[in-house]
Parts: sequence; structure tokens; C-alpha cells
Amino acid sequence: MATGPFQQNILRGEAATLDIFPIGTLHEGDGGPYANTWGTIVVRSPDRRWTSWSIARIEKLDGKRMTGLFQKPQHIRMIWDMWVKIGKPMPFAVCQGCEPGLPFVSAMPLEDWISESDYLGAHFGEPIDVVRCEVVDLEVPASSEVVIEGHVSLKNDSLEGPFGEYQGYEANETAMQPTYHIESISHRDGAIWPFIPEGRPIDEFHTCAGLGFSVEGLGLLREAGLPVTLAWTPFETALSWMLVTVPSDWREKLPNTSSMDFAKKIAAIIWGSLFGHCMEIVYVLDDDVDPTDMKDVLWAIPTRCHPTDRQSVEVGPILPLLTCYSHEERQAARGPKIVHDCLLPEDGKGRARVSSFEGVYPEDVRRKVMAHWRW
Ligand SMILES: Cc1cc2nc3c(=O)[nH]c(=O)nc-3n(C[C@H](O)[C@H](O)[C@H](O)COP(=O)(O)O)c2cc1C
Repeated sequence: MATGPFQQNILRGEAATLDIFPIGTLHEGDGGPYANTWGTIVVRSPDRRWTSWSIARIEKLDGKRMTGLFQKPQHIRMIWDMWVKIGKPMPFAVCQGCEPGLPFVSAMPLEDWISESDYLGAHFGEPIDVVRCEVVDLEVPASSEVVIEGHVSLKNDSLEGPFGEYQGYEANETAMQPTYHIESISHRDGAIWPFIPEGRPIDEFHTCAGLGFSVEGLGLLREAGLPVTLAWTPFETALSWMLVTVPSDWREKLPNTSSMDFAKKIAAIIWGSLFGHCMEIVYVLDDDVDPTDMKDVLWAIPTRCHPTDRQSVEVGPILPLLTCYSHEERQAARGPKIVHDCLLPEDGKGRARVSSFEGVYPEDVRRKVMAHWRW
């Protein structure tokens, strides 16, 4: 097994304290300093079959204790529930300053029982180097700059929050959450410990989690055999919208399906996913629109989305951090979501041609113009 530069200093007992690091309060109004905003949290199911790497916020309570979010349906919560069931504190490792691919895969909503390290290894074509932990039965990325190890309590016994969040607002809500008890800290001399003061878009929360949500959404829609071109959550919407574009021949692939039924099928898959509780609105559009281009999106939605028709509302799980919902809805973690069928009618059945250079001029004319165009 590899070794890592973070093993340069291995601290145990009283010496293993967060007080030796400059951990600051990131937004005025936060409940305290936040130790983890970008680091990967490593936990493993009690049967050792599933090791999960994820990012979640963790607040420093004092040198030896931290608390953080353990929200459903996140894997850290699923695995913590397994440890609570057998009555044993959950071992954890929090790794700071890992190589850049790691935060991106840690923020990806991979399916249950898929280990992020396996996914990244498959992506790179070689396993990622890991190092055995000092006091817990876990391995951590060898590229870590700081590794914090210990066990998580069995009860929600610490007050967590508030924290300025990715929706762009300083929240005022707190909740009781489990406690991370620190037993060992290893670090490189002059270690790099990145922090993300999440807030109004766009920051690293949106680019990192947004890419993961989009990629996973597209994968799930393709797996379900639906004809789709792209799934994209615009960073500017604080990841509250999912735009799905579909090829113009989708009707050939799904005969006897209305555009509204198609849009509802798409929304059911997005809302049924691990990140579905973040998606307030799903828009289904033809793929002449580029969902990653806000100019395209802001033209297409008002010109293709009926203000009251061709939409379907469903009440389902929501992330309590979503600010558009009422206090009661956030407390219950349930609220309404909407899907808009913005698909153009069939050719010859009322479909208007797009009045643009690409839309209304024959290809030979366009080619001639481009051949003479001087930039
Ligand atoms: C900077 C950043 C901060 C995040 N903070 C949290 C958080 O505090 N709580 C949370 O549940 N998810 C948070 N996420 C999103 C999760 O990392 C993401 O949903 C991931 O899929 C969770 O891992 P899992 O799929 O293995 O459960 C954050 C993502 C990023 C990029």
C-alpha cells in the first residue's frame, strides 16, 4: 500500500487538535468556523462492501469535536444509519487538499453501493493510490494534505449551523446533528487546506456538484432508454433547474407518446434520482437549444413554455436548504415541483421554423455566405 506526504506529522491524543490550523468563520452569521467545505469524507458500511467518498459541510465545535449535515438521501447518512443500527460509532476520515479529480467525484451522486474510488479508477484507467488510516479501518487518498480520523456519535447530539449556503443566502436554521470525535490528525508540513465560502452562484459548489448532477442525470435518462441529447443544471440557477434537451426525431422512437407524457417520464427519472430533491423545475426542450448557453435558454423558455398549460406538478421530497419553499415545507422536507413540456409541435403540425441564420436559409445559401464572409 502507498504512503502519503500527509504522514509527515502524525498526531494522536491531545496533540490531535484542530486548534493548530487556521480554520475561520466563512460568512458573517455562520454558527461557527467550518472545518470542511471541500474535503472528502470517507466512510464505509459495517460489512466493508461499500466505501463512500463525499463532500458535506462540517463545523468545528472545538479542537476535538466537529458536527455536520447527515441528510437523507446522502450516502453518509445511509451508512451512518447502518452503524447506528448495530450500535457502534461510525469510523470516519476527512481528507483535505486531495488531487483535483477527487472533489468532483466526491460530489457526484453515484448510485448506492458504488464506491467513488472504483469509479475514479475506472475513469483514469488505473487505481487511485490510497493509504491505510492510523486509527480507523479505512483508506484515504495518498494525495491528501491533511487527514482527520475518528468516530461519529450514535445520536444527534450537537447543534449544527447556520451556514451560508449554495442557494445564495445566509440561512438562519440550525439542527441537531451527530458529532465527529477526533482521534488522530496527520498532515504535511505547510499543508494546503482549501475552503469554499459557498454562496450566491457561481462558485465551486455549483461547478462541482452541478457537473455531477448533470452527468448523472444524462446517464440515468439514457439507461432508461429515453431519446435525450443533454441534461444540464445551469449553475446560475443554484442547481434548482434541470434542462433536458431531446432530438427532433424523438416521436419516431416513442410512438403514441404525447410530449407531456414524455416530459413527465423525464421528470420522474430526474426526481427519482439521488439529487432529485434539489430540482425544483424540469424543462424539456428540443435540442436546437443549447442548455449550457444562458442566451439560448432565456430565449427558448419564454417562447416555448406555456404560462399555464403543458405542465405537471408533483409533491415530493425536497432538500430543506431550498429557499423558495416555506418554512413548513422545508421542515417536512416535502414540497411541490414542476415539469414544463416546452417541446415544439411536429413538423407540418404547427411547428414554426426558427427565424435565424441556421433556421430559415437553405444550406447552399448558408454555405455560400460563409465562404464569402470575412471575419
Ligand atoms: C462544495 C460542496 C459542498 C457540499 N456540501 C454538502 C453538504 O453540506 N451536505 C450535503 O448533503 N451535500 C453537500 N454537497 C453535495 C454532495 O457532495 C453530493 O450530493 C454528493 O453526491 C454526496 O455524495 P453521495 O452521493 O455519495 O451521497 C456538497 C458539494 C460540494 C461540491
